[in-house]
Amino acid sequence: TMIRRVAQAAALVLPFALGAAPALAQTELTVQHALPLNSHTGVGASTFKEALERLTGGRYRVATQRNDNEREMVESVQIGTIDCTFTSTGPVGNFVPEVRLFDVPFLFRDAAHARGVLDSEIGQQVLARFPARGLVGVIWIENGFRNLTNSRREVNTPADVRGLKIRTMENQVHMRAFTTLGALPTPMAFSELVPALQQGTVDGQENPISVIVANNLNQVQRYMTMTRHVYSPQVMICNPAMIARLSQADRALFQQAAREAQVANRARVSADDEAGVAELRRRGMTVITQVDTAAFQAALAPAFAEWERTLDSATLRRIRDWR
Ligand code: PAF
Repeated sequence: TMIRRVAQAAALVLPFALGAAPALAQTELTVQHALPLNSHTGVGASTFKEALERLTGGRYRVATQRNDNEREMVESVQIGTIDCTFTSTGPVGNFVPEVRLFDVPFLFRDAAHARGVLDSEIGQQVLARFPARGLVGVIWIENGFRNLTNSRREVNTPADVRGLKIRTMENQVHMRAFTTLGALPTPMAFSELVPALQQGTVDGQENPISVIVANNLNQVQRYMTMTRHVYSPQVMICNPAMIARLSQADRALFQQAAREAQVANRARVSADDEAGVAELRRRGMTVITQVDTAAFQAALAPAFAEWERTLDSATLRRIRDWR
């Protein structure tokens, strides 16, 4: 019939009209990350996307999406409704307990120490624990060192932390640290943080400078103390069934794209750390840079003693001794 002939003609012409290349099997992946695209996390995800699409000549397409609830992202990767996430380790210890080791306060001296350990066999050994929990840990990226902010007072000493209601991540190591300092930790997803600060449900929070700047937390927080009390790793986590479907060659390209994401993410965290204090002061925050780190470490002594018992103390020692 006429209709069929028109349809056939359209089928022939349309692909060219739309500029489509010859049929090519394309795999779509969904990758979620917290924070705006213009942040260290967004840059990691978008670098991964560009790299994988380039390295595979377009056989893979990656859709990046923002989700400020990291626990939800990990759950979605586990059940396979999304393929991968770039998440802080905040909620990850609830899925892969061995990760908690890296959440111990004052464990890493500086970024070089943290990055070195995570890229070493110590980091690889922890990634190797993910499959038993229905997840694949692909690569370590980062948030950077976390700093304390609040709307009540200048925090100069550990005693100033007492009685503050502090939002923490859903992370029992961090919660234990704040309880030990006499604060009242309230765990919640990052997506709930700004309303909680606005309504006074919590007085403060802690995050790296990169996060504070990217999310304008200066609008809801007056004081920042550069406690750098804990290094905050991020990890790229993917769904095991999706990884299993990759050919050997594509798996190598996938890993290479992840490495490019890692380089871009770390460079951005370093740049944000450099520029962030001046930027937050410009936005009107009071920033306390002189911090008696030894006093905070001393105040955490009971918690350190507990982690020696509950976490892998041999690996903690290897990390501390790492040069
Ligand atoms: O505070 C958090 O929950 C995390 O640091 C964040 C901001 C989601 C980035 O990983």
